[in-house]
Amino acid sequence: MILVTGGAGFIGANFVLDWLALHDEPIVNLDVLTYAGNLQNLSSVWNDPRHVFVKGSIADYDLVEELLRSHRPRAILNFAAESHVDRSIHGPEEFIQTNIVGTFRLLEATRGFLAAQDEAFRKSFRFLHVSTDEVYGSLAPVEAAFSEDRKYEPNSPYSASKAASDHLVRAYHHTYGLPVLTTNCSNNYGPHHFPEKLIPLVILNALSGKQIPIYGDGMQVRDWLFVKDHCSAIQRVLESGKVGETYNVGGKNELTNLSVVNTLCEILDELRPLPHGASYKAQISFVRDRPGHDRRYAIDAAKIERELDWRPSETFDTGIRKTVEWYLANDAWVENVTSGSYRQWIDRQYR
Ligand code: NAD
Ligand code: DAU
Repeated sequence: MILVTGGAGFIGANFVLDWLALHDEPIVNLDVLTYAGNLQNLSSVWNDPRHVFVKGSIADYDLVEELLRSHRPRAILNFAAESHVDRSIHGPEEFIQTNIVGTFRLLEATRGFLAAQDEAFRKSFRFLHVSTDEVYGSLAPVEAAFSEDRKYEPNSPYSASKAASDHLVRAYHHTYGLPVLTTNCSNNYGPHHFPEKLIPLVILNALSGKQIPIYGDGMQVRDWLFVKDHCSAIQRVLESGKVGETYNVGGKNELTNLSVVNTLCEILDELRPLPHGASYKAQISFVRDRPGHDRRYAIDAAKIERELDWRPSETFDTGIRKTVEWYLANDAWVENVTSGSYRQWIDRQYR
């Protein structure tokens, strides 16, 4: 079996669902269930005997050690993290605790576990660390996209904490021979995306008649990848990636925030038209910029394409339409995640 951490969050849950749809191999899913963890994301596999959910933290060394001893997974996939840049600006502490200290404890427990295994087990074991393109910092408008040998220049507490975790993973390979793999992926979007992030926030604010907030001038560029394509890349790296290597994952979909928002409004105008031919675009509002806002991210995915024969299956046009359709079809999910503490976050961030 494999151990997935953070498997109740956006990407982790998509990974768990896709994995169980494709494989017989069971998953132990360790998630502490922060505001971003949602068991509803896993409702379709809740009674599946191949899915064992454990509520707990990657920073709990004793718990992780016990899980490793009792389940003996052949791989760990580390999705668990604090993931929202704006929250890291308001309060970096949890990002340090989870992304750095948590990853460190997970690595330590894995090191201890592997030391007690025979060589054949150790050789085939993998620790796959799921990371982000934000560790590379911000690109100038005409600069080449991030390749794996790009220097690290993280600019937010979030990206700095992810960069630190990547360095720890690298060091555990270099020093202790831990069989690690790291993926650095661009912006994901798709089903189960928590609506603090741009795309789901725009969809839900548009539908509920609220302002659609665009930070600064809206000309920041992100390289969007449908979440299922990120999950397929992770599977490919797990199967065939070379130990100790890093793989950049991206969709070759560089778009300004403004154009993403306009596209979302146009799809909503078509699928959920407003009365009298009005457009959701009228709700767009330019608001105060994010402090230290990175201007542009773009991934050069040539290595994973060439070495592992991975390619995304969705274009932005197909993926974004599926995403809007998913939000329109899942009122109960939306209702559930937008209650309570979510409202407090929105008041604090956009007041
Ligand atoms: P998310 O915030 O939606 O989910 C994170 C999950 O981790 C939640 O279920 C949360 O409960 C869990 N978690 C948090 N702290 C934990 C802890 N100490 N122990 C166990 N579980 C814990 O995040 P996401 O968008 O799904 O991102 C998953 C991973 O992918 C992160 O490592 C993130 O840095 C990385 N990533 C995200 C994107 C993106 O666009 N969302 C892109 C590239 C990489
Ligand atoms: O690049 C990968 C990263 O993508 C991941 O590592 C992060 O976990 C993930 O959150 C995401 O980071 P971003 O900061 O790029 O995503 P976010 O959805 O928060 O913002 C996307 C862009 O939209 C960014 O330029 C900020 C802008 N934005 C965001 C929000 C929430 C707005 O203009 N208005 C908003 O209200």
